[in-house]
Formats: sequence, C-alpha cells, structure tokens
Amino acid sequence: MPGYAPPAIPEDLRARIEKLVKERQAVILSHYYCKPEIHEVAHFVGDSLGLSQEAAKTSAKVIIFCGVHFMAETASLLCPEKTVILANIEAGCPMADMIEPKALAERKKELPGVPVLTYVNSSAAVKALSDICCTSANAVAVLRSLSAKRILFTPDRNLARRIQSLVPEKEVLTWPGFCPTHHRLNLAEVQELKETHPDAAVLAHPECQSKILAEADFIGSTSGLIKRAGDNPKEKFIVLTEEGVLHPMRKMNPLKTFLTPKTAMICPNMKKNSLDNVVSALETLSPVIKVSEDIRADALRAVDRMMAVPRD
Ligand code: 13P
Ligand code: SF4
Repeated sequence: MPGYAPPAIPEDLRARIEKLVKERQAVILSHYYCKPEIHEVAHFVGDSLGLSQEAAKTSAKVIIFCGVHFMAETASLLCPEKTVILANIEAGCPMADMIEPKALAERKKELPGVPVLTYVNSSAAVKALSDICCTSANAVAVLRSLSAKRILFTPDRNLARRIQSLVPEKEVLTWPGFCPTHHRLNLAEVQELKETHPDAAVLAHPECQSKILAEADFIGSTSGLIKRAGDNPKEKFIVLTEEGVLHPMRKMNPLKTFLTPKTAMICPNMKKNSLDNVVSALETLSPVIKVSEDIRADALRAVDRMMAVPRD
C-alpha cells in the first residue's frame, strides 16, 4: 500500500483534546493495537514495556490509558500518586483472565522453591503472587537474570515455549494460557501467503503458536516488529500479529508493502478504545484504575524487578 495516508482527525476534535490535556495536565498513552486515530492523538504509542517505562517517568498528573485493563493497572502500580484512567473500562485481556490468583497459589504449593515468572498480561493480584514479571520484549533477559534452573512461566504458554527454546539450559514450566487473537492465525493461510510472496520477510509476535513461529524470519514484541520493518532492507513483509501495528509500519515506511493473512487479527478489546472515550476520560477523569493497597506492594515488587532488567 505505497503512499500511506494516516487517518485525519477533525481539527475541532483535536483542539478539544489538546485543551483538555492542558487543563488536566494529562498524558495520553496508547498501545500499538489501538485504532490508528488513537495513535494520532496519543503522546506516546508503544509496546507493554515501553508504556510502563513511559508511565513511570511521566510528569503528568493524569494518565489516560488507551489499551487493556492490565496495562492501566501496571501504570497505577508504578505511579500510585497519579490518576490513571482506562479510556474504555470494558477493555480487558482474555489471556490475563486465564489465570486466577487462587489457581496460581495452588500451583505454587505443588512447586515449592520454583520462582514464578509472570507475563505482564495478568492481573495485579496474580503479579503479587509472582517473583518477577516480563513482557514479550524482555522475557529472555528476565529468564536469564534468574538464578533458578526451574521456572514456572504464566500465563502465556506460547511465549513460555518460545523462551524455553532460546534458553535451553533452564526448564520452563508452562501455564495453559494463550491469546485468542494470535491463536486465530491459520497455518495454511500463512504458508499460502509465503508461497505467493517469496520475497517477503515474515514478522511474528511470540504470542503466536510454535507452528506459526516456525514460519517467521523475525520474532519480537510489537515495537521490535515495527523497528524490524524499518531496519530490514526488504520491501515486503508478512505481518503476523494484531493489525494495529500496520499503522506505524506503513506510516514510517510508506513505500514498503505490508501483507496480512486472510483471517484478520483484531484484538476486539484494544479496539474498544475510541476517540469519544478519550474525550470523556479527560472530561470526567473516569473510569479510574487503582490497585488496592493490600496487593500493591507485592505486585509492584515483581514489576520493579522486571524494570531493573535491561531491555533485550
Ligand atoms: P507487546 O508487549 O509486544 O506490545 O504485546 C502486548 C500484547 O498484548 C500482545 O498481545
Ligand atoms: Fe490480550 Fe491478545 Fe488482546 Fe494482547 S492481543 S491484549 S494478549 S487478547
């Protein structure tokens, strides 16, 4: 799609958002999977790790989070003194819901002495029961930073398998969680696309199943995939992750071609965040996401430990 044109935001709407941002001393953070128009009004668009880092260092009083619930919760953990608002309170992450604190506590009893490494796609209550967290951008570095040989990785079994293959000296025990959006990917469609476009490089997110990852030339976090699309001299890419990344990829590389499989990869929760939600969040300063005090300290310890590990 050469000559990509980003979506136009009506000037009056943009001016209204900018005025409210100033009045509220707010910052708008968006994950790459949100709609392109959200990227266009956000002050920072990033992957899970980048968003946490941005939340941790912002001087704004209010954080308007366009993403899913666990991301706003992580921002609340990192900056309890700030007002953290999730633009759409209905935006959850089904993978994060695949692990309950009670079930994790039970599993820990079965595995005494085995540290728990938890993907940030999890609730604060689950993080509080974990030793350390990771994102897709730093999972390998975090795993290597642990002295234990056996580790329980929760909740994404695909990311667990991926890091196990890269760090064979450790034993990574898995939890049966997965991302429904990435699981929708059909292997035959990917192979067909590769056959039709043998000149394309295949970029995949580690939440994909191993059989899909086996087809990829590069595997990385959303920001890693976007960076790779720019750095790689190829002109054509097959993109195997949620289609929100196509917006920055096309915007930064208007002369390159980005292809996706027939079965669309859309995270319905990320797409719930709308410009109307952003305006309403700024006007009403709600819905606020606040992690309860009884779990905050333990959850923050696991997130802080992750933040201290340098990015891959
Ligand atoms: P990233 O941390 O790579 O942005 O991924 C977050 C996510 O939810 C992927 O489904
Ligand atoms: Fe959760 Fe998957 Fe959506 Fe990411 S893409 S927020 S893992 S459901």
